[in-house]
Amino acid sequence: MTDMTDVMDLIPAPRSVERVPPGPACDSLDAQTQLDPQTGTEYVARWLRTTVGAATGLPLPDGNDDDNRIVLSIDAGLAPEEYRLVVDGYARRIEGGSAAGVFWGAQTLRQLLGPEAFRRAPLTPGRVWTLPLITIRDTPRFAWRGLMLDVARHFMPKDGVLRYLDLLAAHKLNVFHLHLTDDQGWRIEIKRHPKLTEVGAWRSRTKWGHRASPLWTGTPHGGYYTQDDIREIVAYAAERHITVVPEIDIPGHSQAAIVAYPDLGNTDVVDTAALSVWDTWGVNPNVLAPSDHTLRFYEDVFEEVLALFPSPFIHIGGDECPKDQWKASPAAQARIRELGLADEDELQSWFIRHFDRWLAGRGRRLIGWDEILEGGYLEGGQEGRGLASGAAVSSWRGYAGGIAAAEAGHDVVMCPEQQVYLDHRQAGGEDEPMPIGYVRTLEDVYRFEPVPPGLSAQAAGHILGTQANVWTEVMENQSRVDYQTFPRLAAFAEVAWSVLPAPAERDFAAFETRMATHYARLDALGVEYRPPGGPLPWQRRPGPEGIDGINAVLGRPIEGAPPIV
Ligand code: ACM
Repeated sequence: MTDMTDVMDLIPAPRSVERVPPGPACDSLDAQTQLDPQTGTEYVARWLRTTVGAATGLPLPDGNDDDNRIVLSIDAGLAPEEYRLVVDGYARRIEGGSAAGVFWGAQTLRQLLGPEAFRRAPLTPGRVWTLPLITIRDTPRFAWRGLMLDVARHFMPKDGVLRYLDLLAAHKLNVFHLHLTDDQGWRIEIKRHPKLTEVGAWRSRTKWGHRASPLWTGTPHGGYYTQDDIREIVAYAAERHITVVPEIDIPGHSQAAIVAYPDLGNTDVVDTAALSVWDTWGVNPNVLAPSDHTLRFYEDVFEEVLALFPSPFIHIGGDECPKDQWKASPAAQARIRELGLADEDELQSWFIRHFDRWLAGRGRRLIGWDEILEGGYLEGGQEGRGLASGAAVSSWRGYAGGIAAAEAGHDVVMCPEQQVYLDHRQAGGEDEPMPIGYVRTLEDVYRFEPVPPGLSAQAAGHILGTQANVWTEVMENQSRVDYQTFPRLAAFAEVAWSVLPAPAERDFAAFETRMATHYARLDALGVEYRPPGGPLPWQRRPGPEGIDGINAVLGRPIEGAPPIV
């Protein structure tokens, strides 16, 4: 590690890097190198010892040997996530505005040690680990740098979730939005309503590919996190300065819950007892009944959720709730009249607002997809009817919902599907696996701008940050999630953390150069990213022979099955 090019391979790019003094000098870590954590940084020291220590084979014991230590400390003069990393030949220091800043500095230190520092054991015992003599000053652009993972469509077992938390941390992302419930599965144990997981956590078969595909896998699919699993996930995230934001989707995307407890549905228009956990994709008509019973049931659910997740924000979904059943349901229509509402959109708004107030009363903030703006309650203009001022919006159907919410004074997380839905394909080639959606390349993600032009300065201040969303309809396992998520999450991380020029002026070529080193880091971490040259043979779209293979496994050939689309 000798020249500036290596140093500049940091991803996300830091605010400022200075070599001190100029020249090729470097410092080396050895078996005697100590960690000297000052008050409040003990967990960062633990992370360095267990993670970087495992990769390097260096024991990194606690100690304060002036000549050979890494000092970790908090400098209250820095912003909470800001850090300063100094290696000057006399000392090695990581100072942060809080333990979070120190932790992001420790992540930078790992990148400076080289890709081998991302492995779990040293390749060459006794090798010399060097650091450039350097001062890095760095702080994130956005406070919310998120990834949403949909574990409802395809479940990711707990170990995979913990691994993803490590991958987020390696990219200085700090919000993990966990999409826990949907039509296709309920993934969190709720003690008061055990059938949510006994019944709702599995389905007997699954659509293979896009919903237009004629193919199914006949393997039952499911799984859920026990409350202890959730506690472990939340604690593991907290040690990495990541907040886990749980999503319990209401009043749409609720078929799994309705199957577990049929009286949650609109029983006067559909025989909810005859439904099963959904096995295909799309927008589902079976939505929650707007009854007191449903409200009480979900209050029970949210009470347990609040006890598990310390996150200030609780996501209530709110997206894609078709109103057909409410239109047809005498009970829903009576509810509309009783509440003096104009229509079903206002009923949706009433539903969301109930939980908005309920959460606010418990010191939490509601966040929902931009449909929560429907029903005319954005401005709070009608006395007592608006969303609480603390309510926030995940703007997914483009920028418009986010702009409207920000201009009305609500906080916003920008995650427009046109830019940062990572289920969408990464290239136009025929061999992209399960190529749904439109093409969004690594470069497209690199040129994504979370703050749309034309926002007033005040509204721009309401853009909390940005989030990439990983919906898993066509990602049946961790390998597929890796392929869709990487390398694009590296570009996204730079958009979320670094201060970049306007999209057209961003130096994608320079980013690609740094990616060469970053691919080596991802290799060391075991990430099955999409290689720049396209999918590896085993990552390719199943061809006709693939379909035959699937059919052979299922033992029920599908006559004349067309290619998967
Ligand atoms: C969404 O993609 N339905 C939030």
